[in-house]
Amino acid sequence: MATHKLLLLPGDGIGPEVMAEVKRLIAWMNAHGLGTFETEEGLVGGASYDADKVAITDATMAKALACDAVIFGAVGGPKWASVPYEARPEAGLLRLRKDLKLYANLRPAICYPALADASSLKREVVDGLDIMIVRELTGGVYFGEPKVIQDLGDGQKRAIDTQVYDTFEIERIGRVAFELARKRNNKVASFEKRNVMKSGVLWNEVMTALHAREFPDVTLEHVLADAGGMQMVRWPKQFDVIVTDNLFGDLLSDIAAMLTGSLGMLPSASLGDVDPATGTRKAMYEPVHGSAPDITGKGVANPIAMFASFAMALRYSFGLAKEADFVEQAIANTLNAGIRTADIKAEGCKVVGTREMGDAVISEVARLAGA
Ligand code: IPM
Ligand code: MG
Repeated sequence: MATHKLLLLPGDGIGPEVMAEVKRLIAWMNAHGLGTFETEEGLVGGASYDADKVAITDATMAKALACDAVIFGAVGGPKWASVPYEARPEAGLLRLRKDLKLYANLRPAICYPALADASSLKREVVDGLDIMIVRELTGGVYFGEPKVIQDLGDGQKRAIDTQVYDTFEIERIGRVAFELARKRNNKVASFEKRNVMKSGVLWNEVMTALHAREFPDVTLEHVLADAGGMQMVRWPKQFDVIVTDNLFGDLLSDIAAMLTGSLGMLPSASLGDVDPATGTRKAMYEPVHGSAPDITGKGVANPIAMFASFAMALRYSFGLAKEADFVEQAIANTLNAGIRTADIKAEGCKVVGTREMGDAVISEVARLAGA
């Protein structure tokens, strides 16, 4: 069996708490022949800043470039509110995305029937929801230059961020979305603001041409991002795959998280191009929820998004589809059994902490795998 090299970057806040549960799952899988994983650990974000005064060191970056997949927890927190901008915790995450060229961010939003009442929306709006947000991750306003605050000298300052997209960047993220749609319900909604932004005009043109040239069998719909945001809370089940730029994708995926009941439920995969020489691609897997300083250290964080992110690693990086199914099914079964962390608690359910939720999911994986 191939050995898979993982770099674990727990980061800050609840990152280490949810990562601890995935570490236990990995150990269990190694012990029971469900895969052979070698793990290494590194610092990122505020934890890295505290140790080395940078959000990620060159040495850790080198490990990220050399491993088969990075498993990432979360970064940030009030403790680092006043560190220099270049060394802020988020800079570590952004450098990983940029240097590993992880341009395709897949954020599936699935509403488990057992959780439909945990959403702030009505049950019928979200029950059975299954959409995939494909967010462009290495371009747009996150990385565009110039990106500065200028002193105008008269007591005024000017802040500039730059929204910039080239044709190839839009094409490659479009391809990821269309190819995913073919394996799902064959429908892509492309979100932009062509009525206001030049980058939206080009985004729309490139998606239209790519669709006509390579994916005429897939249904493509162009949606203005503001109206699309409204549609996402009005009737989200009308969407299958949503493809959008870096900033809109950031906003819309947090909205999508709440559709599923809790931010603690949403996993993500960030993928680069397939290397033709090896057939593999650089990849990082992380929960969408962030570091959650308000509940850090209390043992109550929901590890489900972290488990589900690891399941995406099994599926997308290691071709372990059956094992990924076990993990995802174990999550669903655990929820159906009425076991809940505080963020998704419901009447008649048993509220547990991070560790007990980890125990429940891992023992359900064991049962499903017959191990
Ligand atoms: C996300 C996060 C990050 C982002 C932050 C932590 C830099 O919100 O992954 O959605 O803005 O991309
Ligand atoms: Mg975000």
